[in-house]
Amino acid sequence: MDSADPRSVRGRTWRSVFAMLLVRSGLILVLSDSPLPAEEKHPQLLRRIAFGSCAEQFKSQPIWDAVVEQRPDLFLFLGDNIYADTEDMSVMQAKYAQLGAQPGYQKLWKSCPVLATWDDHDYGVNDGGAWYPKKVESQQIMLDFFQVPKDSMRRKRQGVYGTFVFGPPGKRVQVILLDTRYFKSRHTKDTRPEDEKKKLNLVGWYVPNRDPETTILGAEQWKWLEAQLKEPAEVRIIASSIQVIADEKGMESWGNFPHERQRLYDLIGKTKAQGVLFLSGDVHFTEISASKDGPYPLYDFTSSSLSEGVPEWASAVNRFRVSARAYALPTFGLVEIDWEQTRPTLTLRAHGEKGELAFENQVKLSP
Ligand SMILES: [Fe+2]
Repeated sequence: MDSADPRSVRGRTWRSVFAMLLVRSGLILVLSDSPLPAEEKHPQLLRRIAFGSCAEQFKSQPIWDAVVEQRPDLFLFLGDNIYADTEDMSVMQAKYAQLGAQPGYQKLWKSCPVLATWDDHDYGVNDGGAWYPKKVESQQIMLDFFQVPKDSMRRKRQGVYGTFVFGPPGKRVQVILLDTRYFKSRHTKDTRPEDEKKKLNLVGWYVPNRDPETTILGAEQWKWLEAQLKEPAEVRIIASSIQVIADEKGMESWGNFPHERQRLYDLIGKTKAQGVLFLSGDVHFTEISASKDGPYPLYDFTSSSLSEGVPEWASAVNRFRVSARAYALPTFGLVEIDWEQTRPTLTLRAHGEKGELAFENQVKLSP
């Protein structure tokens, strides 16, 4: 088997066996494997990356079969991977065990590498941020579940962020997993009357917080991100649990902290980071947004949820949307990279629970 063939990675490094371990209050199913250490380079070429978010562990999750059928080279879990919503760590572990016990998820784990970041519910609290009191414990439980190696940098610092570079020079994909929770400041609430918000077709929980002292990533993660963006790569996936570009709905997004989003766009320009594509989740519907506010056209492919969509949120306003629609049924995203083109061309597809195509867009990344 060619060393560039992603199956060689599956066969050598990612062959999964399942082990039952007794953890604290009860049995927890964990997936025994040798996942990729963070900030490590891997020679295997990526052509097909699947991703998703918002997997309610208390429901059946038939969508995993459709994900596996697409034979992705990598799966990215972008947060709300479980709905923990607790400060009781044994409850959190039990909820991860429910995800681990999903037969479809077990199939996925055996078929390709899985990398994960988190969002509010798996972090531990709805719309949570730096103030969540159990974040130290929650971080280790999350990294344990996804079998992140004990010596990974992701265990040695605050926050679950990390990077991975796949593929040979000329065909490199850098995957940057951001942590949008550990350091995040408090939102500013939208206090307008409900009927006024309805007329504007927005959900209306939050309005932008323009205090320059507030943050999403925090000082250390910003420093780290700048260093990562200077690393050479042809395609860069920046995985953010919350939407980066769409910002009008009043839901959680980078638009809640406009100075932080501008800083992100400016950093991409300053570091001359080519080939950026944002992937996001969280909102319980699926869409693609595009922005001209960065150094070159930027795209944000949002895929949510793996188990249940929310149609009334999907119909909220988004002037940045470029996909044919916002899809509000269970869904996953697929990013296909055509390396034969001189500029890597990406096909972005949203698929439903049975694998049906919801929409498809082709994008060319930075020149
Ligand atoms: Fe969320």
